[in-house]
Amino acid sequence: MNAMSHAKGFRGAPKKNQIPEFCARCHADATYMHRFNPQMRVDQLSEYLTSVHGKRLKQGDTRVAACVDCHGVHNILAVSDTRAPVYPTNVASTCARCHADAAHMKGFNIPTDQFALYEKSVHAQTLAGGDTSAPTCSTCHGNHGATPPGVGSVANVCGTCHVMNEQLFDKSPHQAAFAKMGLPGCVQCHSNHEIVRPTDAWVGTGPQSACTTCHTPGDKGYGAAQAMLADLTHLDSSLTRAAEVLNVAERAGMEVSGPKVELAGAQEDLVKARVDVHTFDAAAVRKLTDSGVEIAAKSYQAGVAALRERDYRRKGLGLALIAIVLAISGLYLKIRQMESGDSIGHRGDVERKAREV
Ligand code: HEC
Ligand code: HEC
Ligand code: HEC
Ligand code: HEC
Ligand code: HEC
Ligand code: HEC
Ligand code: HEC
Repeated sequence: MNAMSHAKGFRGAPKKNQIPEFCARCHADATYMHRFNPQMRVDQLSEYLTSVHGKRLKQGDTRVAACVDCHGVHNILAVSDTRAPVYPTNVASTCARCHADAAHMKGFNIPTDQFALYEKSVHAQTLAGGDTSAPTCSTCHGNHGATPPGVGSVANVCGTCHVMNEQLFDKSPHQAAFAKMGLPGCVQCHSNHEIVRPTDAWVGTGPQSACTTCHTPGDKGYGAAQAMLADLTHLDSSLTRAAEVLNVAERAGMEVSGPKVELAGAQEDLVKARVDVHTFDAAAVRKLTDSGVEIAAKSYQAGVAALRERDYRRKGLGLALIAIVLAISGLYLKIRQMESGDSIGHRGDVERKAREV
């Protein structure tokens, strides 16, 4: 009875809605926490209270996540421990325990497909490959608060990593146009959870186009889409053609490392042009593709010249071989002739000796 004496500070199992304050007794106390780790953040509770989880818990809804749903109860591990439920590669399944459970989420009227969609994304695949610079659920939604620090809305989180794309998009005509229509930016074309690797077919006007939902034949956007696809495709095929001829030349033992290095520069132009699609300005994209196409054409010419040189050397080698074969057969015949003359002389010797005897 003494061990469980409230007078001596005993706290029984907290009710769900008491958990955040239960943990925050220590975790929001800077003086206490910084004795153990001077870098430890002490804002988990204050942040948590701004999240949908925190707000709903305050309203008495206990189906939301409180501290223990994400961290465990008696088995809490350091967040850097690979076995911790909040370690980057484990976060998605921690959230999915509720968010992918239709029965648990019944009545909230929000989808329960975030985990399934996220698992198919380039982000999940990059993370599974061990690259923790790719985002998981809590990277975009915040660990404790409604959004990660410095991000006004989750829809703006992409730019914290994809800086160039955001800068170009913000200067493009779409920024203001989308804002006026109440549309999100990046997510409008890329979606939020099932973000896949785009291809050049996303620009253009084919079935995979990300433009034709809004732009129709005859308007400026439609024309820009067609022009950008044509330029990207032109550079891409120029690169392939140049790389092929250089590879053949290299396999034939020709020295083409110089043109190969230059071709890498043209490849770089293609990468930049794909980022510059976010200006939605066909002229800006063309500037890069033109530069790349020019380099690719030079590299192609260098490859062709190397192959011509190889043919020339092969012909030279062939002629030299014929000359060597002729010389060797001439020598052989000569030796045979000398040998046969020799053996006659030898026979004559023997016959003379025989007569003498
Ligand atoms: C929705 C899930 C979730 C909830 C709810 C949650 N946490 Fe966290 N917590 C995380 C994640 C994710 C991390 C970050 C892991 C990382 O940095 O890789 C984290 C990190 C932490 C850390 C390490 C320091 C830091 O802030 O990065 C502490 C301490 C912590 N949480 C305590 C709490 C407390 C106390 C509560 C309740 C008030 C709480 N957490 C609620 C998911 C959650
Ligand atoms: C009596 C004080 C106290 C209480 C209550 C408490 N903690 Fe902690 N917690 C600590 C201390 C101290 C550390 C270790 C800090 C260090 O050494 O880095 C810690 C570490 C952690 C960590 C690991 C942080 C990291 O840097 O990896 C998490 C997560 C955490 N606690 C979550 C919780 C949760 C969830 C609750 C409530 C269920 C809770 N704590 C209740 C004192 C407390
Ligand atoms: C214990 C179950 C549970 C866990 C674990 C959980 N959540 Fe939730 N979450 C909920 C419930 C219930 C809601 C309330 C839904 C609502 O109000 O729309 C919610 C709401 C949300 C919302 C707001 C949705 C909206 O209405 O716009 C986001 C975002 C969210 N959770 C993200 C996460 C992330 C990220 C994780 C993992 C780090 C996580 N949750 C873990 C149960 C959970
Ligand atoms: C790349 C960033 C990113 C990642 C990773 C991410 N989300 Fe989201 N999520 C978003 C954005 C953006 C929205 C839309 C928010 C808005 O419009 O305000 C959203 C919306 C949501 C919502 C609200 C309901 C809905 O579906 O629209 C929930 C719940 C949610 N995400 C949970 C999760 C969970 C669980 C994971 C991990 C399995 C996850 N998210 C991973 C960016 C992300
Ligand atoms: C925490 C950083 C981070 C955040 C936030 C983030 N991403 Fe990513 N993203 C990455 C990483 C890392 C990759 C993998 C890069 C690679 O392998 O090319 C990636 C890949 C991508 C790709 C494929 C790139 C390619 O070269 O094919 C797209 C498209 C993308 N992200 C869009 C988004 C969008 C849209 C958002 C916001 C909803 C977002 N990302 C949020 C880090 C992030
Ligand atoms: C109007 C549609 C649209 C919007 C809005 C948009 N993108 Fe894109 N994005 C595309 C298209 C189309 C491609 C494919 C370009 C290609 O591969 O030729 C692409 C490619 C990408 C790539 C892969 C190529 C690269 O840059 O490495 C990333 C990453 C990316 N977008 C991120 C973003 C981010 C971040 C935002 C928001 C700031 C955003 N996108 C807004 C249409 C859009
Ligand atoms: C969600 C709808 C939407 C999508 C998707 C979209 N746009 Fe737009 N776009 C607009 C709106 C709205 C404007 C502004 C219209 C205006 O000012 O006349 C615009 C303007 C433009 C402009 C400037 C036109 C001008 O009059 O100067 C270009 C170029 C453009 N878009 C190209 C594209 C390309 C390329 C894509 C695909 C990668 C794309 N858009 C996808 C809605 C969209």
